[in-house]
Amino acid sequence: MSLKSHEINLDITPITETFGAIVSGVKLSNQMSQDELNQIKSYWNRYQILLFRDQDLSKEDIIGFSRELGDLEIHIRNEWLNDEHPEILQISNINVDGKPIGALSDGEVGWHYDQIYLKRPALGSLLCSVKIPPEGGCTYFADMTTAYERLPLDLKTVIDGRLGIQSYENFNNLYSTKTDENQTTLTQKITQPLVRTHPVTGRRALYLCPGMTVGISGIPDDESGAILQQLFDWCLQDDFVYKHNWRLGDALLWDNACTMHRREPFDSVHERLMFRTTILPQAERAVPF
Ligand code: OGA
Ligand code: MN
Repeated sequence: MSLKSHEINLDITPITETFGAIVSGVKLSNQMSQDELNQIKSYWNRYQILLFRDQDLSKEDIIGFSRELGDLEIHIRNEWLNDEHPEILQISNINVDGKPIGALSDGEVGWHYDQIYLKRPALGSLLCSVKIPPEGGCTYFADMTTAYERLPLDLKTVIDGRLGIQSYENFNNLYSTKTDENQTTLTQKITQPLVRTHPVTGRRALYLCPGMTVGISGIPDDESGAILQQLFDWCLQDDFVYKHNWRLGDALLWDNACTMHRREPFDSVHERLMFRTTILPQAERAVPF
């Protein structure tokens, strides 16, 4: 019996020469067809960042769609989880009863890979805009696959086989708030390979970020600081960076194995609210790296 699937062709428009694409003609939901999901997964692997415009998503849609891509993580920053749906981490500068309802407020958030500080970091995230300021608050992404592929050979040689030292505390000191005792225990400094092989595509990408990578194992601090600075400068060339200007109804899916991101600040008189899911590799598909 033939299992030929329906022909499905979601429209895809690349954003930059190397990464990012807009997918149109699809409504994300918790009831998508397997064909649509397969096509989205294959685009995700190829383009690393997918933008879906004009989505009108319920929390159930966000969670249902995200769950098709992998297991969902309940983020350790439990003070910012959505009350009804802990799979959703709120990113916001809104306060209720004097308490922030979300992470990252309205200041600058420097370049980082989500969860590079965890042994089993997320495969990706889906960030959906719920309330956005009239200007500012753009999110930038860097294509770390191309940055690695085009890296000068001498720098490739320096980092080959090396481990980066990752600190969530460093990020919080600069851009966020301190973790509580339990969260601190779960986020001690760890090392990760400076070059990460993508679990699905096998492509290599630079796995380091100014916000959290504080050293290189086995290299003294002053020397590793200079090497890291060279690498950061390299990754942040315009050629490797996409600036995302949010519209209401945007849902942006990024690959957290090969893109890092940052957010610019915005005027605190405006409210911004984003719903984020954090997608882990499905247990049966998890590949150690
Ligand atoms: C995140 C993040 C930036 C933003 O959700 O991981 O870094 O623009 N968000 O809200
Ligand atoms: Mn982030």
